[in-house]
Amino acid sequence: MSGRRLVVNVDHVATVRQARGGLEPDPVAAATLALLAGADGIVVHLREDRRHIQDRDVRLLRQTVHERFCLEMAATPEMLKIALEVRPYAVTLVPERREELTTEGGLDVRTERGTVGEIVRSLSENRVSTRLFVDPDLEQIKAAHRVGAQAVEIHTGRYANAGPDRDQELARIFDVVRVAAKVGLEVGVGHGLDYRNVAPLAEVDEIVEFSIGHSIVSRAVLLGMERAVQEMKALVG
Ligand code: PXP
Repeated sequence: MSGRRLVVNVDHVATVRQARGGLEPDPVAAATLALLAGADGIVVHLREDRRHIQDRDVRLLRQTVHERFCLEMAATPEMLKIALEVRPYAVTLVPERREELTTEGGLDVRTERGTVGEIVRSLSENRVSTRLFVDPDLEQIKAAHRVGAQAVEIHTGRYANAGPDRDQELARIFDVVRVAAKVGLEVGVGHGLDYRNVAPLAEVDEIVEFSIGHSIVSRAVLLGMERAVQEMKALVG
């Protein structure tokens, strides 16, 4: 893998913290450890309902992540204001619905080109590069190009959940990746990628960034269990 970036999403470290409303585990500490382990950047999604990542996390991550710090956010005036204050390395615009468990689909750039275009423009003027999270759909790629985005992140959720239709979903992703790269968009992929399904995408030269969260945080919980129990057993035993 040359020049490929793994950007680790630490939202779900914050999900565990919010379950008790305290201070631990701290996604900022997790971000530092991920970077020490070789991650090329950190991404968090500041949601309107603040269900996991908090404003404090975003500000601290901006100060402590010297590599790429990417902010995922909805295309709203509130989030634009925060992004312009924080000035992350990059912003990924995603659709957001309050009741969803996680981001369920890509941004409809065609329908929302006015709002999206304005946000892309404001961020570009402030030297924040913008990527648009879109479904593997050629029309969305064209629309992303038209509104002036620097990059797209192709939504891989359907591929990840595809079952027998996996090859078809993969082919769809390959097609749009090539078109996006051809028109000069930087191409990333993300959502639902794990240790079993990432390999075919890692073969594609045009994909320069992988944004992965849940599977990495899940594995970290399990791999850390032995040591965590041993340390507590030593204290109580
Ligand atoms: N990319 C985007 C735009 C996302 O919204 C998410 C989930 O927050 C991810 C990547 C990471 O997805 P996962 O947690 O399934 O790896």
